[in-house]
Amino acid sequence: LLLSPMIFAQPEANYDESKVPKFPLPDPLTTFSGNPIANKTQWEENRRFEIFQFFERQVYGKVPDRLDEYSFKLWEESDDAYGGKARRKQVAISLTKNKRTITYNLLIYLPKGNPKAPVFLGYNFYGNHTVTDDPKVPITKAWVSNNESFGITDHKATEATRGVRKHRWAIEKMLDNGYGLATIHYGEVDPDKNDFSDGLHQLFYKDGQVKPKTNEWGSIAAWAFGLSKAMDYLENDTNISDVIVFGHSRLGKAALWAGATDKRFAGVISNNSGCGGAALSKRKFGETVARINNSFPHWFAGSFKKYGNNERTLPVDQHQLLALVAPRPLYVASAAEDRWADPKGEFLSAYHASKVYALYGKQGIDSPEMPAIDQPLQNTVAYHIRSGKHDVTDYDWEQYITWAKTFVK
Ligand code: GCU
Repeated sequence: LLLSPMIFAQPEANYDESKVPKFPLPDPLTTFSGNPIANKTQWEENRRFEIFQFFERQVYGKVPDRLDEYSFKLWEESDDAYGGKARRKQVAISLTKNKRTITYNLLIYLPKGNPKAPVFLGYNFYGNHTVTDDPKVPITKAWVSNNESFGITDHKATEATRGVRKHRWAIEKMLDNGYGLATIHYGEVDPDKNDFSDGLHQLFYKDGQVKPKTNEWGSIAAWAFGLSKAMDYLENDTNISDVIVFGHSRLGKAALWAGATDKRFAGVISNNSGCGGAALSKRKFGETVARINNSFPHWFAGSFKKYGNNERTLPVDQHQLLALVAPRPLYVASAAEDRWADPKGEFLSAYHASKVYALYGKQGIDSPEMPAIDQPLQNTVAYHIRSGKHDVTDYDWEQYITWAKTFVK
């Protein structure tokens, strides 16, 4: 039997609240050397940077260098998408370093009634053509994950996958509410496999280098970088106002890191992001640091591996990642049946990040009691736990739109 011994070494995932280890949660408002933080100036000048640096070097990994060149090309545009309701734009973004280039496509729908609309920016898993039935969106040529139910067996998307993920993107709801959508296939930025020979990473290699250094970026940081470069385009598009970065699951982890690294994002939404996203690592509930590094060795910096089954020694936890978004609006959402992502750990993380928002006079989550299922709690920091499973639903988008209208301005 060719089963990896690593699989045997993994204990069962814990889903029992009484078995959650007792642990002190690192205080966002006490520096690593023990000094208290009393106001937003001290937070910004002392504490925020040291937390940021820890996540940058020890969790997601550093971007090794600057690009040599960056360009975008609006290659398709129309004002009759969605039955004339929307303007569509398709933009190719090219990033060049060391004479190597990658190009990825941004698909944008904007409500025509709004000359300068706010947009949600988020990655999709299977190609821009999967979020819509719109025949003007080409099938991605990039790597996609195999998926039996979509008939993808050789990492190539086909015409049959057009629209297969449209239920996750409430595009008409966004348009009807004055919002647009900007989306990118994450596989065009960095294919999601344990192989650093392709995607964004290899642009930066020195001669002979085959993977990033220990404290350099894994895939999550590469995806976050891709979002940030998309922002370079979006902030110059005169039809676009605020950009709210959104992501589901692994791409929710990427959205949070993008929100932490790039302050131009006016709001951040984490949908079921779980371990390495919004959930507190020290709870070890559902997916853990050891498991995630074992199953997805390419997601985080090499330096994060040492915290597997060793969460005690982590001087940070994920509530401090959330705090890096402050004072900008932040929405953390869970799903009741998504225990793998630890809904309670996601909630507590939003709760514990809220004291940083308080330094700015912004209201976050005031009580450590989780709200009931399908009872959203919306302030500058917002949270809901939706009934159902790991997914993105119309219900989720309805909450995000309502919240964005009030808090992201
Ligand atoms: C796996 C993984 C999670 C991730 C999820 C997803 O379940 O363990 O960490 O969030 O995939 O991206 O759907």
